Amino acid sequence: MAKQMSTCSSSIVAAVKVSPSTLKNGTSFLPSSSIIFPSKLCSSKWVSHILSRFYKTKCFNSESPNGHPLNPVSLQDDVPVAPIIAKNVEPLEDLQALPVLHSVKKDPTLSIIVVGASGDLAKKKIFPALFALFYEDFLTENFTIFGYARTKLSDEELRNMISATLTCRVDQRENCADKMDQFLQRCFYHSGQYNSEDDFSKLDCKLKEKEAGRLPNRLFYLSIPPNIFVDVVRCVSHRASSESGWTRVIVEKPFGRDSDSSRELTRSFKQYLTEEQIFRIDHYLGKELVENLSVLRFSNLVFEPLWSRNYIRNVQLIFSEDFGTEGRGGYFDNYGIIRDIMQNHLLQILALFAMETPVSLDAEDIRNEKVKVLRSMRPLQLQDVVVGQYKGHSNGGKSYQGYTDDPTVPKNSLTPTFAAAALFIDNARWDGVPFLMKAGKALHTKRAEIRVQFRHVPGNLYKRIIGSDSDKATNELVLRVQPDEAIFLKINNKVPGLGMRLDRSDLNLFYSARYRGEIPDAYERLLLDAIEGERRLFIRSDELDAAWALFTPLLKALEEKKVAPELYPYGSRGPVGAHYLAAKHNVRWGDISGEYS
Ligand code: BG6
Repeated sequence: MAKQMSTCSSSIVAAVKVSPSTLKNGTSFLPSSSIIFPSKLCSSKWVSHILSRFYKTKCFNSESPNGHPLNPVSLQDDVPVAPIIAKNVEPLEDLQALPVLHSVKKDPTLSIIVVGASGDLAKKKIFPALFALFYEDFLTENFTIFGYARTKLSDEELRNMISATLTCRVDQRENCADKMDQFLQRCFYHSGQYNSEDDFSKLDCKLKEKEAGRLPNRLFYLSIPPNIFVDVVRCVSHRASSESGWTRVIVEKPFGRDSDSSRELTRSFKQYLTEEQIFRIDHYLGKELVENLSVLRFSNLVFEPLWSRNYIRNVQLIFSEDFGTEGRGGYFDNYGIIRDIMQNHLLQILALFAMETPVSLDAEDIRNEKVKVLRSMRPLQLQDVVVGQYKGHSNGGKSYQGYTDDPTVPKNSLTPTFAAAALFIDNARWDGVPFLMKAGKALHTKRAEIRVQFRHVPGNLYKRIIGSDSDKATNELVLRVQPDEAIFLKINNKVPGLGMRLDRSDLNLFYSARYRGEIPDAYERLLLDAIEGERRLFIRSDELDAAWALFTPLLKALEEKKVAPELYPYGSRGPVGAHYLAAKHNVRWGDISGEYS
């Protein structure tokens, strides 16, 4: 990240320019007490750091208080020349300026800057998640939250806006109102343009004021449309990055529209940020059941041995919403359900589900395994997919608008609001096993689940009792991600009594019955991870690349051939084409049986 020049008027910032000879002679180049070494660095390290600037090598390897390496970029990259304030320092024409030095007190501060603070995501998810973290005492003592957006708001107006969406996690807890007040007092607002370095400089000044000379760590959350991602990242990098602590940037999808645009976005980001600073969020990875997937597989003997083509017949990843694109038609029409849900949320779950055992729980080990799965998959073709779009429908005296009735959607739009796809992983573990995905808006129910259908029992002794539909008698493991998190395993069981009658029963783990307390929202977990520098649940650039490589040929074919989506009524189970697609692969959708719906 490039280093900014401080322009704050009442700044505690000082800057020096030092020559190698000054250092060689051992002359002190500290002009005044206002220049203090970063507290975590001993002087010899600092000197070697300074020398390293001249020889362009990296040596800033101190650690932040949470044990993660301090981000070196703000001290490394090329910088504009900072003003000279040291009396006894020789000016140097041929060398670049040293970094701006801060007076750094030991306690770290955390500033979280929500860029796009007046948007829906910020209001509905990010501020409430931050409050929940504060409420549960997960935020450091010295934290400040800044909302940044173009709208002109005062701090008070921001507080009013976000207070409407804050909720107490557990109502019975005492002091929720007090806690809310305390939280709101730590929230501030700065209005600025997204492409104005000056506006970000002003933000930087406000942040410095709050940081009060402590070690500053800064987390930027980009809750903004993709066309301004790079502008914001540039402004942050040039004018508002932390000078001695870390700077991290959380980015929300869409990360491009296809392989090329995604690569271009990554390339642009990397002009200003290192990969370690970029936290690409996929909030499905923060959902409780998705996190639990690895626990289930790797810490229970009964699952992992069955986790392959030898025992698993097919895997289904199902996402449905019982509402349309209400209010988001403009965004959605540019992306469609495949880019909105499948290429990211469902594919991420698939990668976690299908990966080999990682060497450790370390982020890089896990992400290495996920990339291997993605790279072993067959890119999708038109014949592997069915697309649909919801149309208007009346039910019980109520009428529901179709997708193209939305005024922000073109009347002739072919954008799919539903898709079903059959994917294959061409590796030894999964050869020939269909992974079926289904995602749709305006369907009959809201649900996200993973269903694993096992093979038939060979030479089943009870075949005669089971009857001809042996598919119905196979075991099925269901991980219900939402709503009402649950894990259940469908088994064949003897109905109690004389004689021999079998039925399908379930071994159930309903979270609400088993665990007390509310399950944290995915954004809470992910924000906390980003604060702690834990990258396991964020998408690395090579994962993203591999994910786009799978879907790009299909998306191009759908768009070039102008494939018309099959219409389905609002509130229905989606296009029948999805059943034909499943049947082609000998699969029956597990969610259709209606059990536990
Ligand atoms: C978002 C999609 O990523 O996920 C939305 O852009 C979708 O279209 C949302 O509604 C679903 O998230 P959740 O957590 O409500 O299932």
